[in-house]
Parts: sequence; structure tokens; C-alpha cells
Amino acid sequence: MSSEGCRRIVLVGFMGAGKTSVGRLLADRLGWSFVDVDDEVAARFGKSIAEIFDSNGEAAFREAEREAAARILKGERVVVATGGGWPMAPGTVDALPEGTLSVWLDVHPRTAVERVLDSDVRRPLLEVDDAVGTAARLVEQRRSRYGLADVRVDTDGLTVDDVTARILEILENNEWKTHA
Ligand code: S3P
Repeated sequence: MSSEGCRRIVLVGFMGAGKTSVGRLLADRLGWSFVDVDDEVAARFGKSIAEIFDSNGEAAFREAEREAAARILKGERVVVATGGGWPMAPGTVDALPEGTLSVWLDVHPRTAVERVLDSDVRRPLLEVDDAVGTAARLVEQRRSRYGLADVRVDTDGLTVDDVTARILEILENNEWKTHA
């Protein structure tokens, strides 16, 4: 595979887009390591993301998320799954280190909520009466930041395998624009 020049891949996108599942498989296929920013933050606090939101507040979570991602993005031969809100802060998806391929995994809000409800991981921002409406509003607010990624892959109707294969194809064909 001609992934020369690309030393790390960062996955961005809304909750339920498949960043963690795809990231894990992609890293496996590339023989790279995989890091999930949420996991790093949870380990630092010694509690789950939902507990951090509850007891420390979202602002403390966001600060730790930014710090963890900046540290992880110094690594090489690594696939990084970021949290859905990470790109909203300045100096994130708009300021990636050289050699980074950024991929936006896009997902329809309804699909996102279905996948999130199906998962064991609590998403505090979607624990509301109208989860689909809330997801739609957040996706709308975030689209332009997700759109700063080098490439977009629409995940609706695709399996984790399909999405991973598509990213490998992008890498192989050098289909990305910048950073790398
Ligand atoms: C969030 C997404 C979550 C997690 C937190 C907040 C968001 O990560 O960071 O619940 O603001 O979209 P995933 O995108 O991995 O679910």
C-alpha cells in the first residue's frame, strides 16, 4: 500500500459514526496502533465519560479531551478515534500535524441515535427526550468543523468492514488533499 507520507490517521465525526469500531479495524489492517481519545480521558479521571460530565462538568471534559488528543497526535503509525465534539475547539481538526490524514465519518442523525442506543457506552448529550432532534441540531452545528477533514466517508448503510475498506482505498490511491 502506498501510504508513504501518511503517518497517522484521525477519525472525526458525530457519535455513532463508527469512529471506534472502524479505527480499531483500520489500525489492525495497517499494523498500526489504535488510540481512542475518550478512553484516554476516562483513564485519566479514573471514571467513565458520563461520570466526568456528571461530576466534573463538560468544560473539564473538553479541556482534558483537547490535551489528550494533542498528545496522542504526536504519535506515528497510529489511528486515533476522537470524540464527536473534539473538532469544535480551535486548534484541533484545523491544526493537524504534518503527515496526518483526517477522515470525517458522516452519519445521519437518526442512524447515529440508533447506533448509540444499541451501544453500552453512555452518551450524556443524547440522554434527552428528543434524541434525534438533538442529534440533528448538533450535527448541523458541527458539520462545517467536521468538513475540515481531508476526506468524508458516508457511513449510512455501510458496515465497519466497508468503511475500513474505503479508507484503505483512499490511502492507497492517495486520494486526500492536504496534511499528508
Ligand atoms: C461527545 C461524543 C462522545 C464523548 C462525549 C461527548 C460529543 O464520543 O466524547 O460523550 O460531544 O459528541 P463519541 O463520538 O466517541 O461517542
